Amino acid sequence: MSEDDEPMTNSANSEPAGAATGTLTDPPEGESLLRVSGLKKHFPVTKGLFKRQVGAVLAVDGLDFDVRSGETLGIVGESGCGKSTMGRLITRLLEPTAGKIEFEGKDITHLGVGGMRPLRRDVQMIFQDPYSSLNPRHTVGSIVSAPFKLQGVQPEGGVKKEVQRLLEVVGLSPEHYNRYPHEFSGGQRQRIGIARALALNPKLVVADEPVSALDVSIQAQVVNLLDDLQQELGLTYVIIAHDLSVIRHVSDRIAVMYLGKIVELTDRQSLYGTPMHPYTQALLSAVPVPDPRRKAAQGRERILLKGDVPSPMNPPSGCRFHTRCWKATEVCRTTEPPLVPLATGHEVACHHPENAPDQQPGDTKLLRLADGVGTAG
Ligand SMILES: Nc1ncnc2c1ncn2[C@@H]1O[C@H](COP(=O)(O)OP(=O)(O)O)[C@@H](O)[C@H]1O
Ligand code: SF4
Ligand SMILES: [Mg+2]
Repeated sequence: MSEDDEPMTNSANSEPAGAATGTLTDPPEGESLLRVSGLKKHFPVTKGLFKRQVGAVLAVDGLDFDVRSGETLGIVGESGCGKSTMGRLITRLLEPTAGKIEFEGKDITHLGVGGMRPLRRDVQMIFQDPYSSLNPRHTVGSIVSAPFKLQGVQPEGGVKKEVQRLLEVVGLSPEHYNRYPHEFSGGQRQRIGIARALALNPKLVVADEPVSALDVSIQAQVVNLLDDLQQELGLTYVIIAHDLSVIRHVSDRIAVMYLGKIVELTDRQSLYGTPMHPYTQALLSAVPVPDPRRKAAQGRERILLKGDVPSPMNPPSGCRFHTRCWKATEVCRTTEPPLVPLATGHEVACHHPENAPDQQPGDTKLLRLADGVGTAG
């Protein structure tokens, strides 16, 4: 995979013809496949024999975003920011505490087992750890054919033939059908997981840190496979990562999460070129820049984040990032900055953003939001 800033071809497939001029500041409005509003997941914390609730982990605390058909939305943030919880909410593996999830315009927030059945085909998840997500006692064949049996789907030519075809699609061999997961390397096991996820021809694939457990040398191969499959099969991806290097080339848009909230959401070029949230800048400064000349040109100084992510049981007041932010002022400690568009297609939650004028609670964009007059940038 190339390590420069040239957009990879997949970024074009969510853009209408004529938009491929390289100016991504105004991202095309692809049809929304998934729409999330006010999404929350609070895990109760209980104490004592009677399991009295003494608090809650605010793992996901009010997310608003959409995933457009054919795009890759990257989700990034440090460990503990609520990314996996978000992934499990949108695939409906977890029941939300509040908010709404719409898939193809249909409200799926509280669908029961029966109502979820058709959705289980359309929405698939790839997990971080290919070692624990595959049952060691099952053959590759039975692992990849499980979705057909669960959904009662009989592919043309039979399940075995279809599974062998899928193994080839993900770069394995049809002869692997009768082998067991332990006979494979980490990268190959993740390919088995990908074959299983693709079995029922899904529309949306949510991949939770799909390469974090793999050797760096293997990571690019698996990311490239996901990229190729997207183009061939017209998939839509949500790819979760804990740093910005893995998703750099495959994401059309990126949402940066901090303590259960989105703090910045924009297209890839704007995020890497003109990041506006201090947290994004800190994450970016930790991404190795391979070419020293570019490093000098970018003038990117390494920003070391102080301390760990605070506990989501008791998040900081105002802006949740204020305890670690070098730009924090009094207003940051008292007033939570809403996520608002500060440039076209570029949403940021910060009172003192980079590459833009300061936003105080009395500033026009924040005022307009508070008045409910709309948020148009
Ligand atoms: N089932 C659960 N019960 C209680 N707390 C949980 C549960 N799952 C996750 N959490 C907590 O929610 C927060 C976010 O976790 P997670 O979504 O796994 O973050 P990430 O994937 O970004 O590392 C963490 O503080 C984690 O400990
Ligand atoms: S609102 Fe304040 S504390 Fe939060 S990121 Fe912006 S400058 Fe930093
Ligand atoms: Mg996680």
